[in-house]
Parts: sequence; C-alpha cells; structure tokens
Amino acid sequence: MTLMVEANNPTVEAILGHSGEAILGVGCGVLDIVSAVATYPEEDAEVRALVQSRRLGGNSANTLSVLSQLGHACAWCGTIGDDPASEEILATLRGQGIDTRPARRLSGGRAPLSCITLSRATGSRTIVHYRDLPELTAVDFARVPLAGCAWLHFEGRHPAETALMLRHATQHRPELSISLEIEKTRPDVERIFAGPRVLIFSRAYALGQGCQDPAAFLAAQWPRTTAELLFLPWGKAGAYGQARQGPLRFAPAQVPAEVVDTLGAGDVFNGALIDGLLAGLGLEALLARATALAGHKCGRDGLAGLVASARISGWR
Ligand code: FRU
Repeated sequence: MTLMVEANNPTVEAILGHSGEAILGVGCGVLDIVSAVATYPEEDAEVRALVQSRRLGGNSANTLSVLSQLGHACAWCGTIGDDPASEEILATLRGQGIDTRPARRLSGGRAPLSCITLSRATGSRTIVHYRDLPELTAVDFARVPLAGCAWLHFEGRHPAETALMLRHATQHRPELSISLEIEKTRPDVERIFAGPRVLIFSRAYALGQGCQDPAAFLAAQWPRTTAELLFLPWGKAGAYGQARQGPLRFAPAQVPAEVVDTLGAGDVFNGALIDGLLAGLGLEALLARATALAGHKCGRDGLAGLVASARISGWR
C-alpha cells in the first residue's frame, strides 16, 4: 500500500484560513452499515432488519459532523483508501461541508467498516468494527498546515504517532487549543495525556482502569496530564467535568422518552463540548448543553439534521 500524494494538493489554509476559526478533527473515517432490529438477536440466530442504512462513522468524523451543523468550518484528517467505501466516506464528509483535503489517501487501501446492530428495544448499538488501513502517521500530519485552525481534536489512537503529532502542533501553534478523546485502553495511551488542553475520557476507559467512581478517576488523572480540563461522560448517569484545582461538576443525562439510537452519542457530546469551549462557556453550562444534545441524539436516528431538530426542541 503506498501513499498517494496529490501533485497539486491545495493547502488547508486556502479554505479555512479566511476565518482562522476552523476545527481540524484527526482520527478515523468509517463506513457504518447500521441494521435496526426489534430486539438484539441471540448468537447464531437469523433475523430480519427493520431498516438498514449506510452512514458516515468514526468518532472524529461524527464529532465534525455535529460541529459543522453548529456552523463551524471543519476539516478532517485521517487515512482513507481508494475503494468505493472510501469514496463514499469522503463524499459524505464533503457533502456536510467538511474539508477532506488534509486526509491521506492510501492507494489500494480499504475503508474501515463497522457492521452495527441497533436494538429498537433498548437503543443499544453493538458494533463489529473491521479495519486493515494503516493509521495516520506524524509525517502525514506534518503536511497539514495548521495556520487556519482554531481547534484541533484528536482521537487517542496510535499513541507513539499521536505523541509526535501533538508535539508538532504545540511547537508550530503553541496557542492552539487541543482536545483529545481517550476512548479505549491502549498500550502506552497515557503518554499522550501531556499536550492537550482538554482530555475527554470514556466511561469504558475509566472502567478499564478499574475505576468505578468518576470523582476518584478524575482525581487520579491530574498528575498524569498537563490538561486544564477533564471530562468524563458517564452514559445514562450523566457527565462529569473538572478544571485543574476546581470542583467536580456534574450534569445529569437527558434521556429521551424513547431511546431509539445511541450510536455516536459520545461523539455528539464531544462536538457540543468543543463548540461550548470555543464559545467560552463555563463548566456547568458546557456539561448541561453537551448532555442535552447527546440525549436528544439518542431519541432519533443518525446524526443528519441533529442540531436543527435539537434547536426546534429548545436546545441552544
Ligand atoms: C461511534 C463510532 C462508529 C464507528 C465506531 C468506530 O462512536 O465512531 O461510527 O463505527 O465508533 O469505533
């Protein structure tokens, strides 16, 4: 598999530099094949889906989707192949106004794909994810001009390369705000806790660290990071946030009357957080707004039209 470098690749500033307000999301772009079923099947069963859809997926791509709906100029950087699924992912991103020029095309590469079963009975999403596409490298990332960026958001993947990307970003744009999502326990992932201004942990990561208590978990992270803000969404139980040396803040979850689709709710939470941080909101308002948008998402299918629909229901 070789890297395809477009001969006349325009710079990201060319698009984003006009405002200097762009958000660059670095992570994985995925094709999600989502089948909704009445109830989650038994192993080895054969069931018929109620409805099936192909969607853009991947944490950073989903987060950018929300940020773009919130009116931000967005760009996506990750690896992508040249198969039809990769074209579909890129076309969907572009269709949402997200600049895909920072992406690295790998010729012969296949797009990551998730087969997802959504249970209508509970709203749970069971994801079987497959990828054999190489991860983005620091060399790829260094080719992306950061001049037009106001915010950089990373997924906590491939710690060795991400550490180099963080270093590159902080060397070239020391004032740039950087957020990092730590979703999974990965070897050495703690080495990237230094550098970002904002760390967003997942409940799965906290539980994987053997921690059942959000307050204790966050308290244990401070010595491991240089971040100023830590967040920990806790699913149906709400979300926690804390500033360095500040009190722990909490917002309850806003669970919709009917939970229809929880796929990407965490990514929506992250998008709302970044939007609120860019707007200078305080911790309590940030958490309340992000849990409200994530909750609203769980009451509807997919991410298309999410922000417009939340606004109709009074979300601001
Ligand atoms: C949801 C999601 C899906 C994707 C999977 C990748 O958070 O980004 O869209 O298939 O996770 O792990």
